[in-house]
Amino acid sequence: MIQFSHTYKTYSGQVSALKDINLENDKGEFVFLIGPSGAGKTTLFKLISAFDRASSGDIRVAGYDLNKIQSREIPFFRRRIGVVYQDFKLLKSRTVFENVALPLVVRNEKPAAIQARVNEVLDQVSLLGKRTMYPEQLSGGEQQRVAIARAIVPRPGVLIADEPTGNLDPDLSREIMSLLERVNAQGTTVFVATHDHELVKSSKKRVVEIQQGEIQEA
Ligand SMILES: Nc1ncnc2c1ncn2[C@@H]1O[C@H](COP(=O)(O)OP(=O)(O)OP(=O)(O)O)[C@@H](O)[C@H]1O
Ligand SMILES: [Mg+2]
Repeated sequence: MIQFSHTYKTYSGQVSALKDINLENDKGEFVFLIGPSGAGKTTLFKLISAFDRASSGDIRVAGYDLNKIQSREIPFFRRRIGVVYQDFKLLKSRTVFENVALPLVVRNEKPAAIQARVNEVLDQVSLLGKRTMYPEQLSGGEQQRVAIARAIVPRPGVLIADEPTGNLDPDLSREIMSLLERVNAQGTTVFVATHDHELVKSSKKRVVEIQQGEIQEA
């Protein structure tokens, strides 16, 4: 589902953010990516979601060779990938419902189908009651759940979540994790970057560690 082979990413200014990454996540797998700040977690996720290109080496995600992908194919590819960003990226001027509906609206789904699916997902993240509120009126954990709802609403085959429990208290973090586990149980491949070692230890999932741009073997 996600496959890196001898992948490197060097930013301008010669920052070597990823070095010789070799990694394979199977379909339906749940994997944690851990590593200190600056290790390359967000960079790795940007490559997976085709927001950035590798400097060398291969990346294949959901059947696409991301070195060869054409710009016009990228929107179709992105439909297969749900992304929860480190900084949420919610639209301030849109309600909770509108934020979550957006991926379906841009796909020209029928309004009735959008209503039904968005309400279903908002119920899943326990935010149905706040559907008409704006992101600024929500707590951090609630905003995080909106971001997850928006990522899963099109039923992506792969969900990548960058620090989805950053800045949340332990109870809320566990709640977010069990939500991601439920998404995984429905068949979605889930890849979660986190600093939260306690959370990782208590979950018994596969863990990939990255340090200074290199995967550390367990
Ligand atoms: N656009 C960029 N231009 C230049 N260097 C960058 C850019 N983005 C990231 N870097 C550098 O690449 C390295 C990896 O950054 P990255 O954001 O992937 O780390 P991270 O593991 O996500 O860290 P954090 O846990 O703080 O989010 C860092 O040294 C960072 O300074
Ligand atoms: Mg990061």
